[in-house]
Amino acid sequence: MRTFKQELELAKAEPRLRIHSFHRYFGKLIPAIPRTAVRLYASSSKDVVLDPFCGSGTTLVEAKALGRDCIGFDINPLAVLVSRVKTSFHDDEMLNFQLGKLMYEALRDNGKDAMAEAPFCVNRDHWYRDEVIRDLVVMKRNIEKAVDEPYREFFRACLSATNRDVSNSDPKHVFPGYSKRLRKMDANGKRVVDVFQTFEQKAKSRIRAAYEYAHYCPNSSDVRVEESDARSLPTDFEQVALVVMNPPYISSIRYLESMKLEMYWLGMLESTEHQSEMDKRGVGTERYGIQEYRYYHRTGLPNVDELTDRLFSQGEKKMALTVARYFEDMERVFAEMARVIRPKGHLVIKISNSNVRKISVPTADLFAGSLTARHGFNLLEQFDDPFVQSRSLLTKRNTYSGRMDSDFMLVLQKT
Ligand SMILES: C[S@@+](CC[C@H](N)C(=O)[O-])C[C@H]1O[C@@H](n2cnc3c(N)ncnc32)[C@H](O)[C@@H]1O
Repeated sequence: MRTFKQELELAKAEPRLRIHSFHRYFGKLIPAIPRTAVRLYASSSKDVVLDPFCGSGTTLVEAKALGRDCIGFDINPLAVLVSRVKTSFHDDEMLNFQLGKLMYEALRDNGKDAMAEAPFCVNRDHWYRDEVIRDLVVMKRNIEKAVDEPYREFFRACLSATNRDVSNSDPKHVFPGYSKRLRKMDANGKRVVDVFQTFEQKAKSRIRAAYEYAHYCPNSSDVRVEESDARSLPTDFEQVALVVMNPPYISSIRYLESMKLEMYWLGMLESTEHQSEMDKRGVGTERYGIQEYRYYHRTGLPNVDELTDRLFSQGEKKMALTVARYFEDMERVFAEMARVIRPKGHLVIKISNSNVRKISVPTADLFAGSLTARHGFNLLEQFDDPFVQSRSLLTKRNTYSGRMDSDFMLVLQKT
């Protein structure tokens, strides 16, 4: 029998389902990872697959494609919307009909009062031209007016997928930024932005992707996606055969920052306070006030305390707390995994080690150590899986988090 690593290499060469590209999302898994895991460890049609940090739904899309029931949770409402939409819509004729109604109404809308209806968005005029704001509002309000209720989510997600391309934020960049490239194009009048046309093209290609996906999937599986905290999951399910996850990295990925424009327009960030409260909720957050990190925080996890002790004594007090809380949070997630995974079930994790202010944090080893020593798992495989697509992750992202060269895969089995 081939190992997970060998099967993964084979799966990487397979074509990718187009539905995966429905919406940009930071830190997406490569689909070959959940695909391989489901093939190897959820081989019966009754097996249930879970991703407690489902993000844009890569695990769910692959599990459904292989006919498995699956459950996804994420703390970010954008993740929930995107995951649901990718795994829900089948009827391309109906979607095309709804799109026709929507475009008809949007083109007849004269844009009156549109500026007043624009959602909360910090520095809105920096990010969008006036006519773009007006047209985005027109599309948004006509989705609510012209589209029948069950299809609105699909078109909300399409409008969200259009957002970056019509903004002043360079779609090539992970974090929003009005790049030199775009500024130069704008100065030379070389950038034509047409919200209606961009939206319609995006919607049509996504309807085709949904149609292809529907034909690819056996139609027997149930998909459940909910907003929930992976540290304390709902208690109405258990006996999961397989969990596949890539949790956030320590401090280094600011999900809200990378997707704030889309989230403003979906009404998911309603004020600056709401945004910072949401930012604090995620595992791996570095949003701590000085009152919180002034004193050393001991986790009781010996290997973690050794690291945070060094950080604290180097004066990196905030980082020491960030690292400590990260591992404490992941302990809670691991306890939840031990609760919901059935005996002999599997847990597949993709994670990266980090360099935090010249101190290397061996996250993969620490996870493996904790899961085997405290949570009743056996380690079947651990190997490094060099980055394939996420070139942006190779650069230094902020003053604290260092370079990450490689992802690690952990394959574990519950005893
Ligand atoms: C690396 S991303 C997962 C990406 C996903 N596998 C995909 O392919 O799109 C990590 C996710 O964890 C989510 N997250 C952070 N803290 C969380 C928490 N406490 N509970 C649930 N999800 C959380 C983030 O919102 C983010 O979507």
